[in-house]
This record gives sequence, C-alpha cells and structure tokens, in this order.
Amino acid sequence: MNQQEIENLYTLMEFEASRTSPPEGFPVLPDIPAGRYTDPRFHELEKQHIWRKTWLFAAHIDELPEPGCFLVWENAGQPVLIVHTMAGEIKAFYNTCSHRGAPVMTEKSGKRSSLTCNYHGWSYNHDGELMSIRDPEDFNGLDKSCRSLISIRCERFGNLIWVNFDEQAQTLLEWLGPIAEEWQEFQFDSCRLIGRHIFDLNCNWKVAMEANTEVYHVKSIHAQTVAQTLDDRRNVNTFYPNGHGRMVAPSKKASAPRTIAPPPGIKTIDTVGPIGRECTQSYGIFPNWVSPLSNFFLPPLQFWPNGINKCRFEVWTMAADWGDGPKPDLVNMWTNEDGSELGAVLLEDTQFGEAIQRSMESYGFKGVPLSYQEARIYHWNQAADRMIGIDNIPAELRVAQVMGEEWIYPNEPRLAQASQVSAG
Ligand code: FES
Ligand SMILES: [Fe+2]
Repeated sequence: MNQQEIENLYTLMEFEASRTSPPEGFPVLPDIPAGRYTDPRFHELEKQHIWRKTWLFAAHIDELPEPGCFLVWENAGQPVLIVHTMAGEIKAFYNTCSHRGAPVMTEKSGKRSSLTCNYHGWSYNHDGELMSIRDPEDFNGLDKSCRSLISIRCERFGNLIWVNFDEQAQTLLEWLGPIAEEWQEFQFDSCRLIGRHIFDLNCNWKVAMEANTEVYHVKSIHAQTVAQTLDDRRNVNTFYPNGHGRMVAPSKKASAPRTIAPPPGIKTIDTVGPIGRECTQSYGIFPNWVSPLSNFFLPPLQFWPNGINKCRFEVWTMAADWGDGPKPDLVNMWTNEDGSELGAVLLEDTQFGEAIQRSMESYGFKGVPLSYQEARIYHWNQAADRMIGIDNIPAELRVAQVMGEEWIYPNEPRLAQASQVSAG
C-alpha cells in the first residue's frame, strides 16, 4: 500500500469517528430481501452463476509441493482434481474419468507417477492426457487424444491456487484488480501453510460470512474479546470493483499497536506497512473469502454452501516461511490446538448462526435493513446480482443497484468531505 493510501486511510478513520450521520450522498440502502437466505430459487441462481463463474481459492502449494502430487477438492460442489505436473505447473481437471465417469482419484491427496482410474484402469498423465487403456484392442478406433480429462481454469496468486469453472472468466489478476497490487506487501509468493480446517454450520453460508463483513456486531458479540481492542468507530470500509471489499480499523489506543511481537515460531513479514501492522485490516474477496491480513498471519476464512440452510466454514492459517525447521507449534490461529474446535472469537461469531437461520425461515422475517457501517454487505449483494444477471432474478429477490461507481475504489468521496471537516 503506497504512502498516499496510508495517509488517506488515517484521514478517513478520523472522518468516520467524527461524522454524525452517513457521509453526504451515501445512498439509503433498501432492505436485502429475506429470500436470498431462504429461497431455493436464489440458492440455485448462486450455484449457476456465482460458484460457476468466480475465482475460488482452493489450495495452497504446500498441499501439493512436488511434481506428481495431487489433491481432490470438492468444496464448490464439483469434483476437482488439482495436480502438480512433471513440468512444475499447477493444473486442475474435473476428477471425472473420460471412460464411464468414475472419479479418477479416490484418495484425498497423494503423489503418483500417473493418475489411474480405479474402475477399469485408464491412466492419465498429470497434464490430463489419456496415456493408456486396458484391452485397447476391444475399442474400435478409440482416439486417446480426444479423451483427456476436462480441464478447469487454475491460476496462482503466489503460493495460493485458485480455480474458476468458467472458461471465459477474466484472469485471476484482473479479477482481484487493485487488491493484487496492495497484496504485494504480504508476500503471498513465499507464505507457508500452517493449518486448514473445516467446520459444519447450520445456516446459510451468507449468514456466516456476513458476521465477518461488518464491525457493527463487535460490541454485542465480542464484548469481552475484539471490542476490548478494536476501535469500531474508526473503521473504514472500502468498496472495490467485482464486489470485493476491505475494512481497516485501528486499535483503541493509537499508541498501543495491535501486537508487538510475533507469536512463537512465527516470522514477521517485514514488508507489511503500518496499516497491516497496527490495524485490523480485513479483505473480502467475492464471493466467499474474508481475511484479516497482518504482518504475522495470512489467515483467510471461507464459506461454502452445503444446501440452502447449511454451510461449511473453512479456516486457514498461513504465515511467512519459517525456514528448514519444523512447522511452528501453533496449529492455527482460528482453532483450538488440535484443530477440532473453533477458537473463542469465531465461536462468538458463529454461535447464533443456526438460530438466525431458523428465525429467518419464519413468516416474520421480511428483509434486512443495513446501516452505513454494514454497507460492504450491500456492495457484495449488488455485485452478486450483476454476476447472476439482474434479469435472471425474480423481482422480489433482487437488490436495487443504489451504490454507484462514485463509491467504488479508487473513487473516494469521503476524502473531500473529510477535508471540509478538518477545514471547518
Ligand atoms: S470409469 Fe475410469 S476407467 Fe472406466
Ligand atoms: Fe465477529
């Protein structure tokens, strides 16, 4: 993040703390329709358009570190085989044999010289090409070159592996836009994986994710934890293209930075600037990534639908390369030591998910009025509708497109208003 951006954020923090209403010109946010959390039609639209067309963070290179390694990944509801090719590339295919559709690999992960289907022994190389079949003389004129595994778009951001089921999608870097540049300081190209755990929750995936997309809940839900240190009135939300967002909130006393020393075994990422060092800085990457990035940890949270009223909550911990020594003891910043339970803050965030879902499914739930503080949720929903195609959505399930381009980064109308405040 460049110096001007940093100064702008500090200016905006003071602006947020001093304002007595939403910023001038900020639109009134119409209610988010209830059915977006409960209506099977909306769930189906998400499946067809959001999960099928966006870049999804799927794996870390440490999970398939050498040529020959593979990983089966099914979080997005499709069977995906991610492989490390003999030439050192990372590629993804549908884990669907081109003979009779069996999964090519049935183990979760491993390392093989070839990828051989268990059903009848068809064998593929790591580029997905069909290399040999059993009893080829019994197939009349089968052209192996037409029977490769079907590939899936797969790109890397440093050590992070992303997939996209849409052949026409823009590149991952285009998708991330200005965030790709901002993330340079976090050195994703050398980060290592400490832990990855997944938990079942009984609520719509957006209910779980939205608890991590605003600070309005901090004083109630996190009274004894986050609220002690986070200055929620100085929180600054930024709205990026493609529905991405960011929050930056300082700690309560500017003189007492968030944390002074890294946890045992964790190296400081020296290139991280003052915002990442001293503030809580969290990015939302559309559709399902939320990550408070700092100079110690790169720990994304992800939310995967599992039906309309259930989801899977995936928590990652990544950190700077710790060198040749053993992996740091600290299993994970989000869970207890053995990774079997969520840690305190995430338990606070998820504790009401099931009750909220039940309550949302009642006749009494009509929609969600969002405050200015919660506007990143609205911004996400606007982007979702554009991705689905507004005309594809039943009118009663749409959100109005009220947040115009003027509120989308790099536009920042609040800066001019901040200078009026300080001049006045
Ligand atoms: S289904 Fe894979 S070899 Fe027959
Ligand atoms: Fe929270």
